[in-house]
Parts: sequence; C-alpha cells; structure tokens
Amino acid sequence: MLRLEDAAARVAAPRSRPGQFTMLLAQPSLHLIRRPMSIHDEGDGWRSYMVKPVGHASGELVALRPGDRVEASPPFGNGFPAPADLGGGPLLLVGGGFGIAPLHFLARRLDALSPSMEYTILYGGRSSRDVELDAVAGVRGEILPSTDDGSLGFHGTCVDLCRDLLRRLGAKARQATVLTCGPPAMMAALHLAVRDLVRDVYLSLEEVMACGVGVCMGCVTRTRNGTVPICTHGPVFRGADLVGIDGGREHV
Ligand SMILES: Cc1cc2nc3c(=O)[nH]c(=O)nc-3n(C[C@H](O)[C@H](O)[C@H](O)COP(=O)(O)OP(=O)(O)OC[C@H]3O[C@@H](n4cnc5c(N)ncnc54)[C@H](O)[C@@H]3O)c2cc1C
Ligand code: FES
Repeated sequence: MLRLEDAAARVAAPRSRPGQFTMLLAQPSLHLIRRPMSIHDEGDGWRSYMVKPVGHASGELVALRPGDRVEASPPFGNGFPAPADLGGGPLLLVGGGFGIAPLHFLARRLDALSPSMEYTILYGGRSSRDVELDAVAGVRGEILPSTDDGSLGFHGTCVDLCRDLLRRLGAKARQATVLTCGPPAMMAALHLAVRDLVRDVYLSLEEVMACGVGVCMGCVTRTRNGTVPICTHGPVFRGADLVGIDGGREHV
C-alpha cells in the first residue's frame, strides 16, 4: 500500500469522492506522464493507493521510500453515485484484484456517512496471493473473498459468487445495486450475468490515460450519448449507458 502525505489534500477543502483517481508520478522519474491511480482511502493530509507494479512508472511508485517525492494531480473523474442515489436496496461492491481500491474507499465513506446502508464486499482474485484482505480491513460491511483456485474463500470467480449471493437474496435482489472495478473481462462477465437481475450496475473503467482532463482523447469509450473520454465522463459509468459492453471488445 502506498500512503502519500499529500500537500494538496491538506489544503483543498473538498474531499475526494470514492471512484475518483489522481495522476501520480514518482520524482525523479524516467517518465514524463503521470499514471492514474484510484484513491483507496484518505484522511487529513494524506491519501492511500494500492499500486500494482506492472511496468516502469508503477514500478517506480512501488519502489518509493519514506521521504521520497511524488507528483500528484488533484482528484479527477466523477466517482461512484452518492449514497442517496443508490436506491436503498442491498449494495454489492465487487472488486477484482487491485480494483478493490476504490470500493474500499466507497465502503469507508458509507461507514462514515450512511451507517444504516447495508453493503457486502465481494473480493476476487486468481489465488489467495491476489486477495489482500489488509486492503479492506476495518470496514463495517461483510467481506466475501473468492479465488479461482479455491485457496481462499469461495471457490470460483467473484462473478460466480455475486450470482450466488443474488440467488440467496431472492426477491430483494431486484432492489440491489452492483458497483464494480476490476479487470475488463471480469467486469464484462459480471455485467452480463447480473444486469437483468438487479436494479443497477455501475462500472469503473480502466484505460491508459495521458492528460486526465479530456483533452488528448486517448481514453475514450462509447456510450448511448456518443463517444466520451473516460477520464472526464467516468471512470464510473452506469452499465446501461455503455455501448458494446456485453461481449463487445470495447473497454469492458
Ligand atoms: C481510473 C484508473 C484507476 C486506476 N487505478 C489503479 C490503482 O488503483 N492501482 C493500480 O495499480 N493501477 C491502477 N490503474 C492502472 C494504472 O494506471 C496502470 O497500471 C499504470 O498506468 C501502468 O503504468 P506503467 O508505466 O507501470 O506500465 P506501462 O509501461 O504503461 O505498461 C507496462 C505493461 O503493463 C501493461 N499494463 C498496463 N496497465 C496494466 C494493468 N492495470 N494491469 C495489467 N497490465 C497492465 C501494459 O499493457 C504493458 O504491457 C488505474 C487506471 C485507471 C484508468
Ligand atoms: S486521458 Fe486525455 S482524454 Fe482522457
């Protein structure tokens, strides 16, 4: 877990919304372009992130030591809907791998602002090594891990687990809202599996980003309202608004 003492977070009055991301770059860096990272949590003067070292820039972030510097943008993107817009039914927060980061932040915000809202976190990985329970420690909601190889929790994918849970919810499933972030193939499969069973599905899309402010058009997705940059119109979209999501090859 990368925890940043963030000067901007200390002075900026508005708090970030769960689902928003910042653009980070270690200093000094061999790279010019900051990388988007979901906010995992925040407090007075700090934000935390979960960074998976997949390439050079994320590798530099993971290698940071206390006292090192990071370039960080203000929070970007729309974030998940406010609790009042989530319908009041059961909330299922379905995270695949590092996609758990923004869902943890959402759970923390629900705990702080909407203590009566019920939610369950479904956290899937290939094996127990991919499910960092520390990343969701201390939240109020129930946490249901799943692993493809059965080494932790439910034996199967978090999509299977979600379907299972909806079946157990019976008639209440119709009122449920599913909020998800994870690998594109997982989110596509999840949307296809649950869209007709629940009230709404919200997906946080990942795309390579350069500017983060809707200028370079390097991160677009197709929606019912046309082709839009994910960094400004997302990263969170209502499943019903996305085009090509079910079995299509676009983003999810
Ligand atoms: C809104 C948003 C939120 C994000 N939140 C997080 C987060 O919380 N934590 C996090 O670790 N990442 C997150 N990402 C992804 C992160 O920005 C990329 O992993 C990062 O840009 C990779 O940069 P790099 O320079 O290390 O790798 P690059 O040099 O850009 O890529 C190296 C190789 O890794 C592949 N690759 C790139 N990204 C990924 C990936 N996510 N998974 C698997 N392979 C990849 C590339 O295709 C390439 O082959 C987020 C992305 C978006 C758009
Ligand atoms: S990153 Fe430039 S438009 Fe989204």
